[in-house]
Amino acid sequence: MASLPEQLEDELHALITAVAHPQEAAIDVMYALQQHYGYLCDEAIQYAATLLAMTPLELESLATFYDYLYRRPVGRYVIHVCDSVICWMFHQDSIFDYLCRTLGVPPGGTTEDGLFTVLPAACIGNCHNAPTMLINGRFYDRLTPDRIDAVLAELRTATEEPARCK
Ligand code: FES
Repeated sequence: MASLPEQLEDELHALITAVAHPQEAAIDVMYALQQHYGYLCDEAIQYAATLLAMTPLELESLATFYDYLYRRPVGRYVIHVCDSVICWMFHQDSIFDYLCRTLGVPPGGTTEDGLFTVLPAACIGNCHNAPTMLINGRFYDRLTPDRIDAVLAELRTATEEPARCK
């Protein structure tokens, strides 16, 4: 296993020492490793398992349950589209279908340029602004096809490093 940057090592150590049992920090540790690797690759799982005194299988079961941990490579921007009832009520066409069509990807797919991954999500807690989506931790509200087109165009030309997904 390649060594991690000292700052990340310190961060992981702080996460683990802040809780009574290392396993309590499992999600946070995996999330921090995902930030480093870009997704939760096998090496990251193995690293977390060693740190947390857990088995890779135990971590695998957690990682595959939690929507915001990615066991496969994802795009620079991960779009979590709310696919729940309130968002459906506010838009007759599915926002999720529109995004997949517009980006030319299947559900869960990543665009060929590596920019966007589209994932359906259960209610993301922003119902009062439905329909809505979450991109790398930021809400985009009251979506329409025009608004989505504008958001995608803005992100395509963004130059600063995006926040990682949460
Ligand atoms: S149903 Fe879409 S945010 Fe709650």
